[in-house]
Amino acid sequence: MTSVEISLFDTASATDVDLAESYDVTMSVADDDFPGEPRPTLDQYAQMARRPADFFGPVRRWVAREDGHIVATGSATYPEHENRHGTITRVAVRPDRRRQGIGTALLRVMLPDLRIDGRTVVIGYGLKADAAGEWWARELGFVRTNAFARQVLTIADVDPALWQCPVADGFRLEHWIGSVPEALLAEYARARTAIHDAPQGDSTLAFPDWTPERVRAEEAEMQARRAEVHVIAAVHEAGGRVAGFTELELSAARTDAAFQLDTAVVAEFRGHGLGLAVKGAMLRRLTAERPAIGTVFSSNASDNTHMIRVNHALGFVTRAVMADVELDAAELVKGLAAH
Ligand SMILES: CC(C)(COP(=O)(O)OP(=O)(O)OC[C@H]1O[C@@H](n2cnc3c(N)ncnc32)[C@H](O)[C@@H]1OP(=O)(O)O)[C@@H](O)C(=O)NCCC(=O)NCCS
Repeated sequence: MTSVEISLFDTASATDVDLAESYDVTMSVADDDFPGEPRPTLDQYAQMARRPADFFGPVRRWVAREDGHIVATGSATYPEHENRHGTITRVAVRPDRRRQGIGTALLRVMLPDLRIDGRTVVIGYGLKADAAGEWWARELGFVRTNAFARQVLTIADVDPALWQCPVADGFRLEHWIGSVPEALLAEYARARTAIHDAPQGDSTLAFPDWTPERVRAEEAEMQARRAEVHVIAAVHEAGGRVAGFTELELSAARTDAAFQLDTAVVAEFRGHGLGLAVKGAMLRRLTAERPAIGTVFSSNASDNTHMIRVNHALGFVTRAVMADVELDAAELVKGLAAH
């Protein structure tokens, strides 16, 4: 193996040169796996990278350097609540520096930190399926636990008529940003548990067990990350139940793109076109209020045919298949020892 130096990477105190090099690694890997998608600018990337936590929890980062220059990056995210058993792990090597053992060396250095606090499962999240990342992980013993369609909506390419999907009779739409109105809190928490019906494959990552307190705690976390969550909910007029909802994340650091979070329709209200209605309403609002946003990113389990069909009807295009992989940390020790 080529001579590489691996160290922890504190993005909060990193120099501009180091941040620019880690940006180049991240973007070259993204362009290799998912070509043709819009990317954050260096400035936007730096804002996101400097945060101590991502969507799942606190993050620790590493870099591998050759001749002093960053050629690979690694990260460990420590999910909280019901997912404390696992560490979400990411290793990325610049495409022109691959197959020289750098990715494996980086993971070997990271391994002790993947097992802290009694965490026993190492999780690779959102890898491009049937590509270098998954092949490498499989070589180490990881197995695929779920597959996802990566869906992208390029707003300029889509006829807005596709989003004119009225809500069924007997329902009304409600919209809020960041914080659900108190009157809808309990119902919204209940409706959110409908996401538990989304296909999970063999993933050990559990969906949150939503309660009103949990909803409020998550809202506070998102605000602390400067993530603005827009929600549209369909409310059943007769009983005041939240029948379905969709959530979209906008970030202060990423002004050109929005990221789809959960969409779910409560089982007894399915079959009324509510999924299409809430998502169509969201896109109408987004394009009217945030014209700078040109792209919406979404990913859905490959066997979630209903959600994928709804997204296609709204103009999303499936661009790639992604995979999650997992391996017991004790097995990873053996896989790394064999390399
Ligand atoms: C996955 C990745 C980190 C591997 O980095 P790397 O430095 O090239 O990996 P290594 O050189 O340590 O590979 C070790 C072994 O894994 C296997 N492997 C790695 N890449 C492979 C590929 N493209 N196809 C088949 N096997 C591969 C091989 O057995 C390799 O040993 P060999 O080169 O002696 O045959 C890199 O391809 C990458 O950045 N991919 C995109 C990001 C990603 O998906 N990361 C996945 C983990 S979250």
